[in-house]
Amino acid sequence: MRPIIAPSVLASDFANLQSEVEMLNKSQADWLHIDIMDGRFVPNISFGFPVMEAIKKYAQKPMDVHLMIVEPELYIERFREAGAETITVHIEACNHLHRTIQQIKATGAKAGVAVNPHTSVQLLDDVIEDLDLVCLMSVNPGFGGQKFIQNTYRKIEALKNLIISRNSNALIEIDGGVNENNAPQLLQKGADVLVAGSFVFSSADPIQTIANLKKSSI
Ligand code: DX5
Ligand code: ZN
Repeated sequence: MRPIIAPSVLASDFANLQSEVEMLNKSQADWLHIDIMDGRFVPNISFGFPVMEAIKKYAQKPMDVHLMIVEPELYIERFREAGAETITVHIEACNHLHRTIQQIKATGAKAGVAVNPHTSVQLLDDVIEDLDLVCLMSVNPGFGGQKFIQNTYRKIEALKNLIISRNSNALIEIDGGVNENNAPQLLQKGADVLVAGSFVFSSADPIQTIANLKKSSI
């Protein structure tokens, strides 16, 4: 099966956001990955609702919103109104994860949970059946362009086993340091969705780079 490709808009040229989004519309990208950083959960600030609404104005593909923020439960409805198709919260940022997942689903959005490199996927044991997506961070969140963490392969296997054993429909998304070289092995271990930021946007031909990622196979 072909992977779902979700280029991260974080790595795009914000001064030309409209043309960047139009490029993604033309490409084989399946989703637009939207990284929201608050300067609290992660040591960086990206952008918020006004920029997301500007992206939505031109985007013809679903927005996959990755919330790297504390107290995400305060903003779920607003992110849905701003056009999120999938809303992913960090397990490390949620004291009441089960409630937050139900809150996301109540808006009609798909519910995702992201786990940092140090967080065991076994902590998802009691919610995996409720999830549409698990985002495995393959870098420490906060910045694009970081080096892929090799331990991610092992985590994909463990997560895949958990998903199968519990009959969950959750997709496995890999976020951070994804490129053409590691994509085949990520897919072979069981990844469904590949997020790619700098690899796509720093390439000479992003449309072709997205097509190459889409062609990656096991
Ligand atoms: C990192 C973000 C990622 C990032 C990926 O905190 O969640 O989505 O934009 O960028 P690359 O592909 O450059 O690692
Ligand atoms: Zn992300």
